[in-house]
Amino acid sequence: MTPQSQSHDESRPGRERPARLSVDLATPEPIPAEGIRAAAALMESGALFRYAEIDEIGSPVAALESEFGTRVGRRYAVAVNSCGAALYMGLHCLDVGPTEAVLLNSWTLAPVPGAVAHVGAKPVFVETGEDLTIDLNDLRVRAAEYQGSVLLLSHMRGHIANMTEVTAICHEHGLRLVEDCAHSLGGTWDGQATGTFGEVGCFSTQTYKHLNSGEGGLLVTDDEEIAARAILASGSYRLHAQHTSRPPLDRFEPFLDQEPNHSMRMNAIAAAVLLPQLPLLEDRISRWRMLYDRLARGLRDIEGIRLPRRDGREHFVGSSLQFWVTGSDHAGIARFCTVADELGVHVKWFGAHRPAGFTSNYRSWSYASASNLPRTDTLLAGLCDLRLPLALDEAGCDHVVEILGYALQEARATPKHPGEIHEEGTT
Ligand SMILES: Cc1ncc(COP(=O)(O)O)c(C=O)c1O
Repeated sequence: MTPQSQSHDESRPGRERPARLSVDLATPEPIPAEGIRAAAALMESGALFRYAEIDEIGSPVAALESEFGTRVGRRYAVAVNSCGAALYMGLHCLDVGPTEAVLLNSWTLAPVPGAVAHVGAKPVFVETGEDLTIDLNDLRVRAAEYQGSVLLLSHMRGHIANMTEVTAICHEHGLRLVEDCAHSLGGTWDGQATGTFGEVGCFSTQTYKHLNSGEGGLLVTDDEEIAARAILASGSYRLHAQHTSRPPLDRFEPFLDQEPNHSMRMNAIAAAVLLPQLPLLEDRISRWRMLYDRLARGLRDIEGIRLPRRDGREHFVGSSLQFWVTGSDHAGIARFCTVADELGVHVKWFGAHRPAGFTSNYRSWSYASASNLPRTDTLLAGLCDLRLPLALDEAGCDHVVEILGYALQEARATPKHPGEIHEEGTT
């Protein structure tokens, strides 16, 4: 992107200031009544721990693991207390140790390099491509440099890379793949579900994800040893037989005294709240896609907004939408976000000097000592993000488009302060 004039385009008809959006874009879906009833019954019983000490009672966590694994298409699922914990567990079960390198796509969220730091390894960031997925050319270079290491790949904000290419590169260079599917539950590449390409797939059930238990995560795998170790490491004590999604008991034997208990189990309430959401997933995904498409259609018509290209083989879950503000400098984009915010549309901006709320810019994680990633810097400088709650409808999408068009017009009409410089590429 190059710095461009901030003057208001006089040829465009001026947009009227729209009404404030009444829907809060951070509104989660309510918990289904069945989940509320199940959680209340558990609270009445007090049996919130996932395991039974003496008489085995059907645990909602075990039921969730079995159903979730089947839904994703993997043999085993292990429920933990966050996706970050699942990512850590995946790296731990692949024996990633201190000082080793783990490759990551550079556009990701803080818990991902955090999981790498948790095993004591060193995150090595790979550049981001124009479609917001991992840059395959840079991945080839890094994979050759770090043969035999692990690639921890985030399908960030639901953007699914060309997994045919990614898995071929992994194969060629002996990289083991862990998928971070925090934003891609139900998403597929060329018909294959995310979470089934790597040795391990990790999912989040934090409130703003596709299933909501406040906090929670699931690790999926087809590998018996990884599954046995993850169950023990998650904190099963000697109660692992109570898992229904597990390898045969003899597969646990070699690890019983070897596997440290990391105490990251999911509790029964979280699972009880999640179980009745599983059958709703397909409907939620199609509603998100409808909202995404509606919003995308409207935004494409606004000069100064550009949307990422999406590959026809990518079946994504549109629970958020990303776009670039083009032709505006740093101050212009800041003004755009402020005006949109005043009108009830909270835009997250990955190029802001100081990250607000969450961090998704590799420069915010100085413990990782990343080298410069100029292409990622350029992409993040103007990149913005909106949550798409299912509480929004098509008219709401049109309203958001109107607000963003107006905010852009206002940002462009605001005179530049003397001495203000273009600062893309900084955080
Ligand atoms: C891309 C990505 N990966 C991993 C995580 C971690 O999920 P959790 O909050 O469940 O630890 C998040 C959280 O939002 C995320 O956005």
